[in-house]
Amino acid sequence: MALQERAKAKVNLTLTVTGRRSDGYHTLESLVAFADAVSDTLTLTPGPVLSLSAAGVVADDAGPLDNNLALKAAQALQQRRAGLRIGHIHLEKTIPVAAGLGGGSADAAAVLRLLAQLNDLAPDDPVLREAARACGADVPVCLQSRACVMRGIGEIVSPPVHVGRLHALLVNPRVPCPTPAVFRALNAPESLAVATREDAPIARGWRGLGNDLQAPALRCVPVIADVLDLLARLPGCADVRMSGSGATCVGFFTDAAQAEQAACVLAARQPRWWIAATVLD
Ligand code: C5P
Repeated sequence: MALQERAKAKVNLTLTVTGRRSDGYHTLESLVAFADAVSDTLTLTPGPVLSLSAAGVVADDAGPLDNNLALKAAQALQQRRAGLRIGHIHLEKTIPVAAGLGGGSADAAAVLRLLAQLNDLAPDDPVLREAARACGADVPVCLQSRACVMRGIGEIVSPPVHVGRLHALLVNPRVPCPTPAVFRALNAPESLAVATREDAPIARGWRGLGNDLQAPALRCVPVIADVLDLLARLPGCADVRMSGSGATCVGFFTDAAQAEQAACVLAARQPRWWIAATVLD
C-alpha cells in the first residue's frame, strides 16, 4: 500500500546571522514556520528498488532526478540503516524552486518521514536526524515541520514553539536570488555576532526582529524592494519581511479573508508573480 506525506514550504519569520565559521559558512538563529497551503506531495510505493519520479508545475525547475534531495535523503538513510525497506518515490512539485522556501529540503524531510513509517522508526530516532543533517542545512528543521528556532547552520533545532496561526501572503517575483551571492553581499555591520536568545522570547517577539539577509538580498535582486513595498501597501497588511535568502517575501494579515483578498488585488497588478495566501504555524 502506498504511503503519502506533505512537504510544507518553510518560511523564516526572523533570521539573525550570529557568526561566521572557519569554513566560510555563517551561523544563524532563525524562527521558522511552515505553510499549510503551499506544499509538495510525496508518495512512497514499497518495492525492491529505490527510484524517483517527479511531476508538477515546477518539476523541471528542480533539475535532474539523480541530484534531487528526495533521492539523496533516501540514500542517506539506506547508508545508515542496513536492510531498510525502500520503494518508488513520486514527487508532485508545486513549491517554487530556489525561492527561500526550502522546497527541496522539505521534500527530503518528507521522504525520511515516509521511510520512518515504512520501517517502524520512531519520529525522534537519531538516525533520521543524522540522515537529515547529511542532506543539507534546512532538512533537520523540515523533518519536524512545525514552528521552531533553528541555530548553527541549521543542525540545531529547538522543540516546537508557539507562534499561533499566522495569516500570510507569500510572494515571489520569479527572479532567481542565489544564496551564495546573498551571503557574499552581507556586510560586516549586518553580520556582527549577537548573543543568542532563548526560544520563547524569539517566538513572542519575532515581529521586532528582522532578516539580516534582507539588505544584502536587496542589493543582489533590487525587485525585492518592490515586492516588499507593494505587499506593505495592501489593505490589512500589518507587517512584511523577506524569507530566508530570498527572493520570496511574506506579508501578515489578521485573518484568512484579508490575506485572500490581498492575493487577488496583487495578482491583478502583478500577473507574473507567484502569489499564495496561507496559514503559517
Ligand atoms: O546551503 P546552500 O548550499 O544553499 O548554501 C550556498 C552557499 O551559501 C554556501 O556555499 C555558503 O557560501 C553560503 N551559506 C553560508 N551560510 C549558511 C548557508 C549558506 O555562508 N548558513
